[in-house]
Amino acid sequence: MAEINNPELANSIVRAFQASHDFIALIDSDARIVWANDALAAKHGTGSDNLTGQHFNKLFDSNLADLTQDILITIINDGFFHGELFMHGEDASFPASVSASIVPCEDSDYDFMILFFASDRTYLKQHEEEARKRKEFFGTIISRAPVGIFCLDIDGNLTVINNVMLKMGKKAEIHLREGKNIDKYKDMFNPKIIEVIEKGLLGRKSDLENIPLLADDRSKPIVNIIGAPVFSPEGGIEGVAVLIEDRTEKILIEEKLQETSKLASIGEIAAGVAHTINNPMTTITGRIEMMKMKAEKNHRNTESIDIILHNLERISQIAKGLLDYSRKDVDVEGEVNINDLVKQTVLFFLPHYTWINIDTGLNPDMPVISCDSGKIEQVLHDLFLNAVQAVGKKGSITFSTEFDTAAKEIVIRITDTGSGIAEKNLDKIFDLFFTTKDPGKGTGLGLPVSMTIIKQHGGTIVVEETSEKGTTFAIRLPISNK
Ligand SMILES: Nc1ncnc2c1ncn2[C@@H]1O[C@H](COP(=O)(O)OP(=O)(O)OP(=O)(O)O)[C@@H](O)[C@H]1O
Ligand SMILES: [Mg+2]
Repeated sequence: MAEINNPELANSIVRAFQASHDFIALIDSDARIVWANDALAAKHGTGSDNLTGQHFNKLFDSNLADLTQDILITIINDGFFHGELFMHGEDASFPASVSASIVPCEDSDYDFMILFFASDRTYLKQHEEEARKRKEFFGTIISRAPVGIFCLDIDGNLTVINNVMLKMGKKAEIHLREGKNIDKYKDMFNPKIIEVIEKGLLGRKSDLENIPLLADDRSKPIVNIIGAPVFSPEGGIEGVAVLIEDRTEKILIEEKLQETSKLASIGEIAAGVAHTINNPMTTITGRIEMMKMKAEKNHRNTESIDIILHNLERISQIAKGLLDYSRKDVDVEGEVNINDLVKQTVLFFLPHYTWINIDTGLNPDMPVISCDSGKIEQVLHDLFLNAVQAVGKKGSITFSTEFDTAAKEIVIRITDTGSGIAEKNLDKIFDLFFTTKDPGKGTGLGLPVSMTIIKQHGGTIVVEETSEKGTTFAIRLPISNK
């Protein structure tokens, strides 16, 4: 080290040490304070003279008494020490960054001295703590947010990716990793998504709604995206934060809702059509029946008239079905035993379908329910007729009832040994006018009307099982709340 021979310069250095905001002291080889600057003395609530002669221990938090010995040994052995320690302060101990090094002093009374230098880290620590808390807070928000979030630095490297984003990516076979550059994934994302990211990196916020996430022709997932630049405290662009919301499920729900309201309006139109048809139909049927009577009187062939009458009957059945489909009211009776309705249905059909084995498995302990018995019977008839048509020439149809005590619902099942429902038709069978029957045989009104009736009762109707061995429909109705 260069000697400072110039006393002026030496004095300036001492003056600079004295005026420093950092804490500076000289410590002798016996670990006693030889000199302390004003900042250090002030921190101890005293004048610098009062520190002179005190043990070097004094400078530290009293809990560190044992450690100071080790520090001294380190300084003597290594020539220096550096560390973060708690120093003593008049009000409270405080965190400090401490450096100490050996200064050889051959010409003086001492062999060496220790130059002690420390700076208060309280403010910095507070800042660090605040920054840590802020980071933790934002970290929690980012990880718990129900939307995908990722951030890129100015070079396009991924710095943050939350779990929702990771999962969304994984589902789409894009394995996002922190540290990777967005270029690696560029071809996989829809170019519009990349545009939003690039705009963000140029300092412009932008967003897009309902666009596919991926570049290939897969339409799912459909997402909303917002890209916003991230600015540094000085105002420069540090990167971009991107929020991606998967809208696929919600779009499906919205479509279903639209479908439902469409069906409601179909119902209203259907009711209108049915009413309009009914009046002229009554007149036409009346006239044709008179024509038939005349023809019979004159011993003329009535075959064509019979065909017309048969088809007129069909038209009025369709009109009735449409009215049932659109009807909103139900005529609820107080206490109906569902087993009785099932028995009546079986008794009604038994003589007509002798080639089918019609069976029942009725739970004797069924609670009574409030319902429109006429309508429920209509549903049982429709389901039975469907089963008959599915069974064909040979087979069996079983009605069973059950009380689901947990759900407080009664369950009616109609099981047939028919041909089953094709997978592709399963989500269509409750649609108005959907039928697989030959023209003139089915109108596709039975199940939608049944569904309307059961829904009006607060219940559900579903295909519980179907295969080439047969089908089970299950109707669930809530029990009366008496
Ligand atoms: N038990 C069943 N087994 C097999 N397929 C069935 C069964 N029940 C209904 N289906 C299918 O669902 C379709 C729709 O039934 P739905 O009762 O609504 O109309 P439909 O029977 O064709 O005509 P409609 O009842 O108006 O005379 C049927 O055409 C048939 O394909
Ligand atoms: Mg039917």
